[in-house]
Amino acid sequence: MEVDLASQAPAEVHADLLCIGLFEGDELPAPFADAAGAGDARPTYKRTALLRPGAPERVLVVGLGPRADFDPERARVAAAIASGQAASLEAGRVAWVPPDEGDDADIAAALVEGTELATYRFDRYKGSDGDDEPRPRIESLALVGASEAAGEAARVALVAARAANRARELQNLPANVVTPSYLADRAREIASAHERISAEVMDRAEVEKLGMGGLVGVARGTDEEPRLIVLRHEGPGETLGLVGKAVTFDSGGISIKPSSRMHEMKMDMSGGAAVIEAVAAIAELELDVDVLAVVPATENMPSGHALKPGDVITQHNGKTVEIINTDAEGRLILADALSWCAEQGADRIVDLATLTGAVLTALGSTYAGLVSNDDEWASRVLEAGEASGELAWRLPLHEEYKALTRGSITDLVNASEKRKASTIYAASFLEEFVDSKPWVHLDIAGTAWDVGREYVGKGATGFGVRLLVELARELAGR
Ligand code: BES
Ligand code: MN
Ligand code: ZN
Repeated sequence: MEVDLASQAPAEVHADLLCIGLFEGDELPAPFADAAGAGDARPTYKRTALLRPGAPERVLVVGLGPRADFDPERARVAAAIASGQAASLEAGRVAWVPPDEGDDADIAAALVEGTELATYRFDRYKGSDGDDEPRPRIESLALVGASEAAGEAARVALVAARAANRARELQNLPANVVTPSYLADRAREIASAHERISAEVMDRAEVEKLGMGGLVGVARGTDEEPRLIVLRHEGPGETLGLVGKAVTFDSGGISIKPSSRMHEMKMDMSGGAAVIEAVAAIAELELDVDVLAVVPATENMPSGHALKPGDVITQHNGKTVEIINTDAEGRLILADALSWCAEQGADRIVDLATLTGAVLTALGSTYAGLVSNDDEWASRVLEAGEASGELAWRLPLHEEYKALTRGSITDLVNASEKRKASTIYAASFLEEFVDSKPWVHLDIAGTAWDVGREYVGKGATGFGVRLLVELARELAGR
């Protein structure tokens, strides 16, 4: 989808579908007040009515509720609803008159995000029997009467939303396609497309040489080759370390998961996908920021040489871990990646991982769980979350949680029998590997998949891409 600015009056816009919002207490704008269908228009949030004014041919009125409740998130939702209508009307050229409430750049950006994200469908395996016609997609979105500043915000939003959709494709693709090598190839592809990005990919032998007992240990159970994927984006100033969990399939290993919904564990690479595509977006936006992205990638499978409960491994930073549960594999591969990232010079770190089922219980699919060792860094990431609509909620660290991670025969255990505060437990474990650098952990197990919001729906959400782009923009001074 392309985005452009239209300077005509709404009635003069050339589009298959012109969308306008209606706030409570407002009237339809003059040229459309008498159009056929105008009587159906309601300002109730999410309600729609289709008008036939003649010029343009069709106008969609989307109810926006009270002005006081309007924010970019409501604009994203309104745009997604409109995008659904555009699809059923087979409207390829869509135009929006941005609602005149709030910051016009933020609203324009949100309309673009809502439309681009809602337009995404995972349909490449559909219709091979010739039954399903591919549904037409929105080709262009015109923002009517938008300022230059709004146009610039829209351009940035489009780059970020496209990157999020690429991450969604990686998440949705099955584990027999998206293997660690596939992700590594994608990283190399990004590096060759952008001057400022370089890629480095390490295989099993190299990872072993680096003493990454976590990644090597988890990868022992699978025939699929593991990869440590590194992307560096050159820029001035402090180095932003990004780490993303990429377990391309999590069966649980010897501590095997129940079979119901196990197929969804192809999405256990969501953190890695978000990190990889966010770095691509950072380069596309030419942001002046130095990034070191590290993505440990492997499958977690049971087999004759898989890790067993009771096994002991040594992580990259020398700490020893007794494996209590082989399904707590994410923290083992992240531990190596985090300590290597810190060693390679990251000044502050954010990691994204579908790490615990418990975060779904605590926060559902609305907020990611955020845990941090640094108040200032935590608030900056929380703010990037608010600004992008990818929300996070901070959970505490405490020495009593830390105590649960201590082993009797090793420095650490990877899970506690007590199963207390499982999300925080995992974060406390990770904290042992960040070398006291300012660090934020985002547990995205609830927000990466099946969120059911209008603009992401079922399956992959690409959670984290837009938050990371916002954070990088803030670090780069925009
Ligand atoms: N990948 C899972 C977490 C997960 C759960 C992601 C649901 C997405 C949806 C992770 O590796 C895992 O299995 N975590 C265990 C840890 C436990 C064994 C300590 C969990 O949360 O149950
Ligand atoms: Mn697991
Ligand atoms: Zn996992």
